[in-house]
Amino acid sequence: MTARIIDGKAFAATLREKVATHAAAFAARAGRPAGLAVVLVGEDAASAVYVRSKGKATHAAGMAGFEHRLSADVSQDELIALVEALNADPAVDGILVQLPLPAHLDTDAVLLAIDPDKDVDGFHPVNAGRLATGLPGMVPCTPYGCLLLLRDVLGDLSGKDAVVIGRSTIVGKPMAALLTAESCTVTLAHSRTKDLMGHVGRADIVVAAVGRANFVKGEWLKPGATVIDVGINRTADGLVGDVDYAGALSVAGAITPVPGGVGPMTIACLLRNTLVAAHRRAGLPFDDATL
Ligand code: GUN
Repeated sequence: MTARIIDGKAFAATLREKVATHAAAFAARAGRPAGLAVVLVGEDAASAVYVRSKGKATHAAGMAGFEHRLSADVSQDELIALVEALNADPAVDGILVQLPLPAHLDTDAVLLAIDPDKDVDGFHPVNAGRLATGLPGMVPCTPYGCLLLLRDVLGDLSGKDAVVIGRSTIVGKPMAALLTAESCTVTLAHSRTKDLMGHVGRADIVVAAVGRANFVKGEWLKPGATVIDVGINRTADGLVGDVDYAGALSVAGAITPVPGGVGPMTIACLLRNTLVAAHRRAGLPFDDATL
């Protein structure tokens, strides 16, 4: 048996088309396009690449993109003043401050300054709280993208045993909350977990977000499991995930490749979140369960 390869690139392209259709309808009703502001501090090369591709995708979806580039030595007060100006700007529905920030800046304070209703990254503690309590809010893009892929592969997730490996605020914790809301039985595993192999071996769903190349071995998996690999690790062999892909192929039922799996879903979900924020802010109905 060989696993189904989950084509995140194709899924993300379809999602972006759906977002574009809804974005055009939003612009017609609201009299303005949905708007996403992206703030980049400093010259980090990888961040600059991400920001450029976010800008391109925003325009391709028929939304307005506002890019703000600040020098690496910008002060905390200046950065927060920009965030506050974006909070107050009616043309801006979503605000994303690209991370990581230079070390002299207080990331938590900057994220706290973002209006939670414009926090399209879903990193604000208010949105973490909304997700944990089942209130409508902004859900972090990467775990939401993983959830969409899982629903596409498995349909109803109710009653499935899921193991999330990695307890980060950006992926692991919100992923566990999303799967709990889908009525999965969720184990949130991390570096101190005892018998990780045993947990993984009982799981119908494995989401790996640890940032260690080829960490999860194929022989750990339950035969037929669905494997979502969030890892992007640069190695001498090129980009690899957190799961030993070659080993997993003959055991898993379905698996995301790296690259071309989860990665492309993140920007598509960012656009989706911007559209959701725009509708809420404009007081327009939007069935966000369909996207
Ligand atoms: N840096 C790398 N990925 C992300 C992301 O999704 N959001 C933000 N704000 N920064 C990032």
